[in-house]
Amino acid sequence: MRISVIGCGYLGAVHAACMAKLGHDVVGIDVDERKIAELSQAIAPFYEPGLESLLRDVQDTGRLSFTTDMSAASGSEVHFICVGTPQKKGENGADMTFVDAAVLGLLPYLSPENIVVGKSTVPVGTASRLADLVKAQEHTAHLVWNPEFLREGHAVSDTLSPDRLVYGVSDGSEDHPAVAVLDEVYASALSNGSPRLVTDHPTSELVKTAANSFLATKISFINAMAEVCEAAGADVTLLADAIGMDDRIGRKFLNAGIGFGGGCLPKDIRAFMARAGELGADQALTFLREVDAINMRRRSRVVELTREVCGDILLGQRITVLGAAFKPESDDVRDSPALSIAAQLQLQGAVVTVTDPKALTNAARRFPELHYEADLDRAISGADALLLLTEWQQYRDLDPYALAGSVASRRILDGRNILDAAKWRAAGWSYRGLGRP
Ligand code: UGA
Repeated sequence: MRISVIGCGYLGAVHAACMAKLGHDVVGIDVDERKIAELSQAIAPFYEPGLESLLRDVQDTGRLSFTTDMSAASGSEVHFICVGTPQKKGENGADMTFVDAAVLGLLPYLSPENIVVGKSTVPVGTASRLADLVKAQEHTAHLVWNPEFLREGHAVSDTLSPDRLVYGVSDGSEDHPAVAVLDEVYASALSNGSPRLVTDHPTSELVKTAANSFLATKISFINAMAEVCEAAGADVTLLADAIGMDDRIGRKFLNAGIGFGGGCLPKDIRAFMARAGELGADQALTFLREVDAINMRRRSRVVELTREVCGDILLGQRITVLGAAFKPESDDVRDSPALSIAAQLQLQGAVVTVTDPKALTNAARRFPELHYEADLDRAISGADALLLLTEWQQYRDLDPYALAGSVASRRILDGRNILDAAKWRAAGWSYRGLGRP
């Protein structure tokens, strides 16, 4: 099929490359000239495992092109809207400027029976509003909401083998003409067993925000337990293992630590609360305020614990922060708890060095006042305390015996509870986890 993908960020670039991999003819469109220039040369504009080799693969087939010119969408049967919906400045709601601009920009290039497919995470009610715009332009075209559930760091495999496909169509019916078209787009995933659900517009939009709210709630639940464990002298990692053995609870997303960040969970729960307020259903989501508050409290808790670890003083302490990305296998620093903690420590007088295998360029753009060191040995050398804040494999593999000689003081705060506490203590380190004795 001929497909256009509008918006070539974390979602769109991966989607475009994967659609081409599946055999479709794809044009990716974005207003950012630098991004388009890089993608056209099969260079990924951000770090995502497997993306660059996928881009190179499909480039050779000639099935994937990139442009800043929206008119290139003309002739495609299916148009995916993959632009961002960041948090509005100073407000909780989602900024819909980019989605609206993408759809309005696309309208002149629509042909009869075209399908416009929204993938961005949007406030419920957006799809119906945009469907009216599409109909007014081209009355036989359809607008579908098809939320994306990919995780950064696993984006390629999540897109090629999604754990579910949701099609939100205007009448919520299997017989809606867009359903057969999307089935053809996703034929490979469907034949490999990905389940798909057809819903109405609002349900499809809510599936996405509900899923992210549930994940955020699960993380904040275990972080709340970490607070109680700290007060009671219990161990939250063992508690998570034990409750996670109950199938109904499950162990995934029960890792207590410095809390969730990134470009999705934090802004999505806030936008969801804001939208519920507009709909008069704000009481239903007041618990998300607590989920957000527990999450933000983790950051201040780590700053306080660091002060304790450093003998009740931060001033002049040389602190090395291991990890800047909001999670491993990503260079994304949007709302990264690691960076936010690093910045707070620096403000309180610590001398902070941040290291990360992939995210330093983005981190330096976001917090230019912090000191960055790409070389792990140099970053660690002479440190009064190490803070492990993003669980990259190389930090998991650190050897406490080998490091002992390079630091000034053997102190480590494990913000992700991933190190073997006994091993580090045996090597003479003062080890602190979160929610662990
Ligand atoms: C999240 C969802 O997991 C995806 O399903 C969704 O498609 C995506 O948002 C989106 O809306 O686009 P992502 O932001 O890539 O994906 O990252 P996650 O893997 O969900 O991690 C989010 C944050 O939670 C990270 O900071 C991570 O370190 C933290 N986390 C995760 C924990 O603190 N504990 C856990 O047990 C799990």
